[in-house]
Amino acid sequence: MAAFFSSVAIVLILCTFSTLGFAPGLTEASITRRYTFNVRLQNITRLCRTKQVITVNGKVPGPKIVAREGDQVLVKVVNRVSNNVTIHWHGVRQLQTGWSDGPAYITQCPIQTGQSYTYNFTIIGQRGTLFWHAHVSWLRATIYGPFVILPKIGVPYPFPKPHKEIPIVLGEWWTADTEAIISQALQTGGGPNISDSYTINGHPGALYNCSAKDTFKLGVRPGKTFLLRIINAALNAELFFSIANHSLTVVEVDAIYVKPFTTNTVLITPGQTTNVLLTVKPNPTNATFAIAARPYVTGRGASDNSTTTGILHYHNSSLSNSSISVPKFPLLLPSLPSLNDTNFATNFSRRLRSLASNQFPANVPQKVDKRFLFTVGLGTNPCPKNQTCQGPNNATKFAASINNVSFSLPTTALLQAHFFGQSAGVYRTDFPDNPPNKFNYTGMPPNNTNVSNGTRVEVLEFNTRVELVLQDTGILWVESHPLHLHGFNFFVVGQGFGNYNPSTDPANFNLVDPVERNTIGVPSGGWVALRFLADNPGVWFMHCHIEAHISWGLRMAWVVNDGKLPNQKLLPPPSHLPAC
Ligand code: C2O
Repeated sequence: MAAFFSSVAIVLILCTFSTLGFAPGLTEASITRRYTFNVRLQNITRLCRTKQVITVNGKVPGPKIVAREGDQVLVKVVNRVSNNVTIHWHGVRQLQTGWSDGPAYITQCPIQTGQSYTYNFTIIGQRGTLFWHAHVSWLRATIYGPFVILPKIGVPYPFPKPHKEIPIVLGEWWTADTEAIISQALQTGGGPNISDSYTINGHPGALYNCSAKDTFKLGVRPGKTFLLRIINAALNAELFFSIANHSLTVVEVDAIYVKPFTTNTVLITPGQTTNVLLTVKPNPTNATFAIAARPYVTGRGASDNSTTTGILHYHNSSLSNSSISVPKFPLLLPSLPSLNDTNFATNFSRRLRSLASNQFPANVPQKVDKRFLFTVGLGTNPCPKNQTCQGPNNATKFAASINNVSFSLPTTALLQAHFFGQSAGVYRTDFPDNPPNKFNYTGMPPNNTNVSNGTRVEVLEFNTRVELVLQDTGILWVESHPLHLHGFNFFVVGQGFGNYNPSTDPANFNLVDPVERNTIGVPSGGWVALRFLADNPGVWFMHCHIEAHISWGLRMAWVVNDGKLPNQKLLPPPSHLPAC
């Protein structure tokens, strides 16, 4: 009963507004959608272990946000826990509203205990699947949920209308306290303890001890088409996803439509979302089919290599959904790629193409104003005197960097410092445009693996056309890093293995229909080339979406200055912005 009341505590008030005072034309209607997120403790049992976790409204995953393109969204976040909290609306562009983006100490000071903050933004030019998550320390382990943007009323999908739409939120679960795990790891310099399971919509599934009943079940009617909105909200794992004996047609990634293609397995990094159409078998079957996810592993650190499963089963069409209990037929497992299948990763990412139609064009910058080459990867910090460390060689602490800068979070918010012209002592504007030392990035590691530490940003003038090459390094070992950019989508114009070659590689760039997204896996031992237009004023975080790597400093920020026109300027901060 308590759980029921907490879920209805999500207040959703729809109020239509129109300048005329009459109902506007159907496709014009934009509304305001209001939600309340109570951040509070809740006892939750998984894998036969109960722990107190920080939740939104008592649930993991938390509530689904639904809005239409053009709608205004107001989310009042009330902090009823002892930790500092912020929420990020991952992939929402936040045009001119950087104050509502959410990363702690980048666009806002966190919401302190007993305080609240209302995120206020309008969804412009976007439709599809995104998600929301906490953006401070490792709180997103249990604070996350789906964010669904429907097209404007009357605007169809560019694919057959599905019978039903189902969020599939992939998560990661530790039976121990995740805040204790990351603070201990940062203290000792070692790798954080690996998770105990992955989850599908919060459920680990039958392949884990003591979890047979804690399994996500998807009941389907024969012959129908379902839209699965897959979200990787896991902290530290890129995941392969597959359903036994069923194929999936990819139609959208990161809330951008793509040219449809069919595959048995989807690869999805933390921070990515993927919409697939699932056409189920035409006739009822007594078999049950496993929905499964397990990691794609490229690095050499310890990793949780377990498999989470759910169950796809067929309804007898004469019975209603709720009266069905899953029959005890044998469960068919899908065959997933092997854990280190980089060929699969490469081929999958090459198949992703923008729709590039008249209605959904791919506005790839054809010319470039500024070029950047950023190395991304792991490194070390020296062990402080009189301490023993558990990082590489047991003599260092793990660190991670972009162009050898391991980014230190400031103690106040960068966006405030920028807006009020008070950057002195908060951040430096000399982030390196290119690697400070040239070396064979993916070859023999250099002798000195140490990073530099600092709060340094890149400054861009409004409407700069940016080309950014992200180059993996093998300083400790090569590894795929899913880089996420706030405030923008980018086009993935090229990728390759080894070191990026600026004289030969650009000839192969795809400037016609490259995939557009907000998070991209930098190939293990390779590089990826991105282009984006800096048309959103503010301060925008860019980081690896592997939580361990972000904690080690694989993060930086872009400052985009205001443009000249009124709609090219960052709006002033709300009066109730949290203070540090
Ligand atoms: Cu989903 Cu800055 O992150």
